[in-house]
Amino acid sequence: MCGIVATIGSREVVPLLLKSLQRLEYRGYDSAGLATVMPGQLHCRKAEGKLVHLREKLEKSPVAGCCGIGHTRWATHGKPDVRNAHPQLDEADQVAVVQNGIIENHRLLRQGLEQQGVRFRSDTDTEVIPHLVAQALADLRGTAPPTDLLRQAVARAVEQLEGAYALAVVWQGQPGELVAVRYNAPLLIGLGEGQFFCASDTPALAGFASTIVSLEDGEMARLTPLGVELFDGSGQRIQRTPQPLRGDDYTANKRHFRHFMLKEIHEQADVAAAWVERCLAAPADESLATVLRNVQRVQLLACGTSRHAALVGAHLLEQLAGVPSSVHYASEFRYAPPPLMPQTLTIGVTQSGETADTLAALTIEMERRHALEPNVPPLMLGITNRADSSLGRLVPHVLDLKAGVEVGVAATKTFLGQMLAFYGIALLLASQRHGASAQVKACRQALEQLPEQLSRTLHAMDQCCAELAHGFAETRDVIYLGRGINYPIALEGALKLKEISYIHAEGYPAGEMKHGPIALLDQHVPVVSIATPGPVFEKVLSNAQEAKARDARLIGIGPVCGDTEIFDVLLPIPPVHELVSPLLTIVPMQLLAYHVAAHRGLDVDQPRNLAKSVTVE
Ligand code: F6R
Repeated sequence: MCGIVATIGSREVVPLLLKSLQRLEYRGYDSAGLATVMPGQLHCRKAEGKLVHLREKLEKSPVAGCCGIGHTRWATHGKPDVRNAHPQLDEADQVAVVQNGIIENHRLLRQGLEQQGVRFRSDTDTEVIPHLVAQALADLRGTAPPTDLLRQAVARAVEQLEGAYALAVVWQGQPGELVAVRYNAPLLIGLGEGQFFCASDTPALAGFASTIVSLEDGEMARLTPLGVELFDGSGQRIQRTPQPLRGDDYTANKRHFRHFMLKEIHEQADVAAAWVERCLAAPADESLATVLRNVQRVQLLACGTSRHAALVGAHLLEQLAGVPSSVHYASEFRYAPPPLMPQTLTIGVTQSGETADTLAALTIEMERRHALEPNVPPLMLGITNRADSSLGRLVPHVLDLKAGVEVGVAATKTFLGQMLAFYGIALLLASQRHGASAQVKACRQALEQLPEQLSRTLHAMDQCCAELAHGFAETRDVIYLGRGINYPIALEGALKLKEISYIHAEGYPAGEMKHGPIALLDQHVPVVSIATPGPVFEKVLSNAQEAKARDARLIGIGPVCGDTEIFDVLLPIPPVHELVSPLLTIVPMQLLAYHVAAHRGLDVDQPRNLAKSVTVE
């Protein structure tokens, strides 16, 4: 994934780069680095681990300059150590490059360069780039005008690259300039007062730039202290009107909470309240109603937690609106899309709006629709918390979750927001098809109660889960069970625990347990089972009994009633309409995972090996 930033202008750039990198750390935190250029000098500092280590290094060994590039890394090629941190340099330490993406043909390029005598100093795919730029600079010197030399050299280097990349390059031979290129990875240009930027994402630009221009694939930008020039893939100058940079509050703080994740779990009551006001109390969204009018089936593309929200969505679309729906891992769909059926609505679900697999799957879908019906706008929708993301630019309609900035890498309030978006879609589709049926009315009424119920559950559950977490000190495996609309919540509970506590956990449809996973059970493997009244309530309780008979410790999530007495521990939720229950059963799942991880003293907000925005395949 990685985050890149570069800036040039009238100010010392190190404080700006550090601030921007801090806001990009959600994209990876395996290492961080920056480079500045001044006439005849290039200074580079890199540190393993989080940005704080780079800051410490810079305090001991400061660098100056009004032109620089910075990087925060999520390791793909090569261990997360200083050698492999970016910027990567050419042999003469004159060209520095930061890159986000994957250079797929790097092995071949490296072999070629090594045969010419170039010595590599890292295991990264990126290192080929500074060497290629350095070679191109040497070749072009004397033929290209000095003011265009770096741009032409970078163009020549990227011609040889295959894969997906966003990169920024500085060269000590031209310290008043930096060059940025994008291909299948996000890159934005930010325009401030006498200061110009490029960065992987808008938070890096907030407060520094007032307007942004997004680069399209193959386009290049040259940034100087006087402004920004854009070029298309053939090197022709292009013009693009800058858009205002949305004033989102990226300066989120933890308030009185110990971690962002805990704060964001608690913010879910507000997310629900805002959604009820926006989507339930207000008249239906006309443009969404138009999109949905003739839909005959829905296919949902997503990854990770977003895919779990999509599974809840598919259940609602089928059971509430009667529309056949299928959920696909975006990473699988992109290589084996099912045959395209008429009047199929494709929905891409991604909180970040930048997940490479989801974007690629949607692009494929868009292309094949265009090939079939070139003059018809594709029946496609995006659900995201970042309407200004690549997803927002790709699909014709976007549902903005408006959940606010989510800092914790493990998605919580955006998951709730995604589920709510599906309630909105399913209710609208159901009303279009069947009018205000009893089920639709009951569901709407239950949703109106949600903010208050969520707020009560959050407060009651926090302490319960904190106490329960003590019992997980030695736990190595946990099984999560759910059925029907709560099966995706079992999957999500297991994913949350895995991600932040590093405990192995699996989610199963409760009825499947006896077909194999039951062999795992003994007194050391707790079973978390979601049991909410509805058509499968009794079945779930029977499945829980089967686990209890194998000595497993049973933790139940459901309302307090005689039936739920079978659980060793009950994490109670208010009695609620079954179709709406995932919006409440998710709360104990999130809080349990949080408290287990916090109790183990782990880095809850930035768990190892993960990143909030997965922009590589
Ligand atoms: C889990 C988590 C990931 C993401 C996945 C997709 O807490 O956050 O599983 O859900 O990487 O990300 P988005 O939603 O940005 O497409």
